[in-house]
Amino acid sequence: MLRTRVWAGGGERSSQVDCPKRAVRAEGDTPYGAEHMATVLVTGGTGVLGSYLVPRLTARGHEVMRLSRHASGADALRGDVRTGEGVAAAVAGCEVVVHAATNPFRPRSTEVQGARHVSESARTAGAHLIYVSIVGVDHHRLPYYKAKWKAEQVVESSGAPWTILRATQFHDLLERILGFRVVPLPRRTPFQPVDGGDVADVLADLVDAGPSGRAPDVGGPQVLTIKEINETRRRVTGNRGVIVAVPPVWFIRDFVDGRHLLKDGTRGRLTWEEWLRTQGTS
Ligand SMILES: NC(=O)c1ccc[n+]([C@@H]2O[C@H](COP(=O)([O-])OP(=O)(O)OC[C@H]3O[C@@H](n4cnc5c(N)ncnc54)[C@H](OP(=O)(O)O)[C@@H]3O)[C@@H](O)[C@H]2O)c1
Repeated sequence: MLRTRVWAGGGERSSQVDCPKRAVRAEGDTPYGAEHMATVLVTGGTGVLGSYLVPRLTARGHEVMRLSRHASGADALRGDVRTGEGVAAAVAGCEVVVHAATNPFRPRSTEVQGARHVSESARTAGAHLIYVSIVGVDHHRLPYYKAKWKAEQVVESSGAPWTILRATQFHDLLERILGFRVVPLPRRTPFQPVDGGDVADVLADLVDAGPSGRAPDVGGPQVLTIKEINETRRRVTGNRGVIVAVPPVWFIRDFVDGRHLLKDGTRGRLTWEEWLRTQGTS
């Protein structure tokens, strides 16, 4: 069973509320470190990664707001990183912004323009900007990944104090892809799926660590072919996608060649099979 995504409901668009103002620091209190309770804005906080990250940050004592176009609830701010609407007001007063808002169907405007709007606001606010990216985006031809590589460069040159964390594909994404039932990929295509919770733990550490530049990449504990991933899913859940072999051309070639796999960095703990087994029980 898929983990429930926290998609927000409708309601009127509002960008009136901004991040809670920074707490007045006691003498000797530094802006970072596990002891410091920061005000953190998570763009895309209602998405898959945000749903792993927000509770972890809250559990560490941080004051967390989620920004998205349709966010609702007490900790929600409405805004659109693509147009910039509501972004500056949301970032003002925050010490850390984790930028995880994304839309693979509008990669250029959401990733690149979005990174511009968010990093400009972070620079103005003096906030630590953490951008969530994907392993291998600097040498991959998938248009979404190319846009993320551009967005990384926007963040790096923005003048805001920054951190970039690249992760491999989440278990949730593989589950979603196989849920489409027909998956056009060569059967030998490798993936290194990682638990979103493991990635969120690394992000929470980076919030506490302060600006770190390019952080070590994070990926899953195993490399498996899409065929093995599909077979494990069938064995554990009874569900199975149909892998339809297609020629390894253009960006599919880059996936077959494993350009999205971890070379060095941090390995998450939860395997694909273990994650599948948690889905009915969490
Ligand atoms: N999924 C993976 O396998 C994976 C792997 C490595 C890295 N990453 C990266 O991790 C980040 C989060 O990915 P995810 O899988 O959590 O994404 P997701 O589940 O698709 O969530 C996307 C979030 O962005 C928000 N959003 C979309 N367009 C927006 C806009 N124009 N303005 C403001 N908010 C917008 C969505 O909410 P609304 O629709 O309400 O706006 C939602 O909260 C992305 O940067 C992604 O590239 C993902």
